Amino acid sequence: MNQNQPKIKIISSGKYTPEMVISNEDLEKLVDTSNEWIVSRTGILRRRKAVNENTSDMAYQAAMHAINRVHYDKSKIDLIIMATITGDQMTPSTANFVQAKLGLDHEVMSFDINAACTGFVYGLEIASALLQTNRFRAALVIGGEILTKIVDYTDRNTCVLFGDGAGAMIIEPSDDQNDTAYFFNAAKGDMNDSLTVKKFIEMDGKKVYQFAVSAMEQAIHKILNESQLTIDDIDMVIPHQANERIIQSVAKSTGIPISKFMMNLSEYGNTSAASIPLTISEYYDQNETKGKKILLVGFGGGFTWGSAILKL
Ligand code: COA
Repeated sequence: MNQNQPKIKIISSGKYTPEMVISNEDLEKLVDTSNEWIVSRTGILRRRKAVNENTSDMAYQAAMHAINRVHYDKSKIDLIIMATITGDQMTPSTANFVQAKLGLDHEVMSFDINAACTGFVYGLEIASALLQTNRFRAALVIGGEILTKIVDYTDRNTCVLFGDGAGAMIIEPSDDQNDTAYFFNAAKGDMNDSLTVKKFIEMDGKKVYQFAVSAMEQAIHKILNESQLTIDDIDMVIPHQANERIIQSVAKSTGIPISKFMMNLSEYGNTSAASIPLTISEYYDQNETKGKKILLVGFGGGFTWGSAILKL
């Protein structure tokens, strides 16, 4: 076991999803597809679309949900990391806009990262490492996306998959050994052409699918090995919400019961960097989470992939 794994206190979690719903039936009117095809291939029933919100508005709302859930003193936040591929604009960073919206005018280090759908797990690892320096009191890590603005609604291969949303987490440094968090994150830059965004999302669905299953399986084994935990020690696996069949394949190949994988992709589709934190927030909504152990696992364009084990 690596003795240098960070120790972090998980304080809270929040989410925001826009009101407008795009159903499979709505998409049947735009492209040659059917509700039956989408449900049987992906498990997705509907997804959300931001109409009046920018990415920073949704990220701010998710952050406020996390803050209000535990009546957190937001002036303690001095690190903001925003994972997104659909930021408001090139610069300033979306994290900077969120900082302003939160009214945090003290010294805050804030920046965006891009690791596509694995962005939130990357962001959590970066935040956790920075918190170990004891230079920061609390980190706000957010994943937020408006994917509907980079979806080509004439391409049936992609337009049925993606939606908008945001999720956030607040973490603090800890010196309690029981608060050890475990991370694994990696990229395969030589496979960069299978899932790209120039103007719109373009992908080779089959290649992505194959990569996703093997990468998630490897990331789960790796993080369990690193933490010297077994799947029985884990209360819930929170996977990137891309496709129900991908998650079922991973459950099968790892031998982990499917009931241990939390899923909400039927409601939101794939929200990229937002999908894992949004699902964590819904885990908080449904459960008494204190002391629970969760395993996060994701993959995305790049290719990137990663996993984490956290004690709530
Ligand atoms: N409606 C109807 N038909 C569709 C369709 C849609 N929305 N999208 C694609 N098709 C067609 C294709 O044109 C193709 O037709 P063809 O065989 O005549 O060329 C056929 O369906 C492909 O079928 P199949 O190979 O059985 O699809 P699949 O089982 O591989 O499922 C995906 C397709 C996209 C759902 C699947 O590959 C996938 O989920 N890949 C991963 C994508 C992903 O997660 N991306 C984000 C990563 S973060």
